[in-house]
Amino acid sequence: MAVPKTVLWERDPHTAAKHNLLKRYLEPWAPILLSRNDTITYAEGFSGPGLYSQGEPGSPVIALEAFAKALQHRPGRIRMVLVEGDKRRESELKKQLGKARGHHSDDVVRRLHLNTHCGECHPTLLEQLRLQGCLGKPLFVLLDSYGGPDIPFSLLKELGKHRSTEVLVTFQPQFLTRFAERNEGHRRSGDAAFGGTAWHDVFKQPSKQKFTFLRDQYRETLRRAGFTHTLFFEMVDEDGHVLYLIFGTRHERGLEKMKEAMWSVDRDHGVRYRDPKDVEQQQLALELEPNTGPLRRILLEHIAAAPKGLTVAKLKTFALLETVYKPSQVTKLITDMRDAKVVTTTPRRVTADTVVVPHVSPPQASGQAEALTLF
Ligand SMILES: C[S@@+](CC[C@H](N)C(=O)[O-])C[C@H]1O[C@@H](n2cnc3c(N)ncnc32)[C@H](O)[C@@H]1O
Repeated sequence: MAVPKTVLWERDPHTAAKHNLLKRYLEPWAPILLSRNDTITYAEGFSGPGLYSQGEPGSPVIALEAFAKALQHRPGRIRMVLVEGDKRRESELKKQLGKARGHHSDDVVRRLHLNTHCGECHPTLLEQLRLQGCLGKPLFVLLDSYGGPDIPFSLLKELGKHRSTEVLVTFQPQFLTRFAERNEGHRRSGDAAFGGTAWHDVFKQPSKQKFTFLRDQYRETLRRAGFTHTLFFEMVDEDGHVLYLIFGTRHERGLEKMKEAMWSVDRDHGVRYRDPKDVEQQQLALELEPNTGPLRRILLEHIAAAPKGLTVAKLKTFALLETVYKPSQVTKLITDMRDAKVVTTTPRRVTADTVVVPHVSPPQASGQAEALTLF
């Protein structure tokens, strides 16, 4: 998509998918964290105007609605720190947030603190977060630029120093694969985003693997910044342009909730959104069942490698940390594999403590074996 110049622009289908993902994550995120903390913060470094040209809400307004809902049922406060580089868009954002806030009760409004700032994402965002004492406390940061690379590693590192920070970053690989090999300036902006030069190996990759290589390099960048668990969600627009949303957290619960959000947007695979006009998407739409075939195979390999078997609880943690799948998908798969005599479960009923081992067929009685051979 060309970078828009007007204050508002049209929302494309993959932005709608991104908003859906954000909403599905923030709706559980806010109440879970409010149940244990007095104040939590949501921040954006590229907030946008809060509105699209056909009247759809922008990400800060979607977040506000999720937070207003959470504050109706929980005590505590939510702070929103929103940075936008374009003055006209920041003014529109203020207006949209004011309007959205007006629909909620005085009690909710009193506990929902809104701060918008016009400035460059870096360093304005960090300065504001410091000034308002948000670092070191629960903080979710959306860095949703047009795809960059325009988020410096130094910003990620500052955010990643704090255990309770989570980030969701938009990353677009095309620009670097197309222009950075021959342009030193673009290569340097890549170095600033990745915090090093290891990503230059993308120039040696076969064309088909360049995007996934950069995606994995970016996940590694988030890990180096301190976000021990990362997930990606791929979005492809109608012209086949790829954009990744990359999530980083140190918390298994955050990882689990983000996976649930991703699987609610992509019910088949949990990792991508393709524009309905994209040809490949039309083929994918034929797959009606969630595709858990690969998880079945991965679990079986994992079980076979553990001589004493593994509990269902351990298999769920494995699925959460090492695969794209959700822990909640494990129980049904183990039950199906038990019924198909692929694994044995002790006790038979599948609960967290059930131990799973590969199924071994009982040796056949010798008479029976002979009979089979004879006929
Ligand atoms: C992709 S849009 C954000 C959309 C918004 N997150 C949403 O989903 O509704 C990116 C926004 O970042 C702003 N922007 C671009 N460069 C910026 C920078 N360096 N610092 C802060 N904002 C910037 C643009 O003006 C634009 O409004």
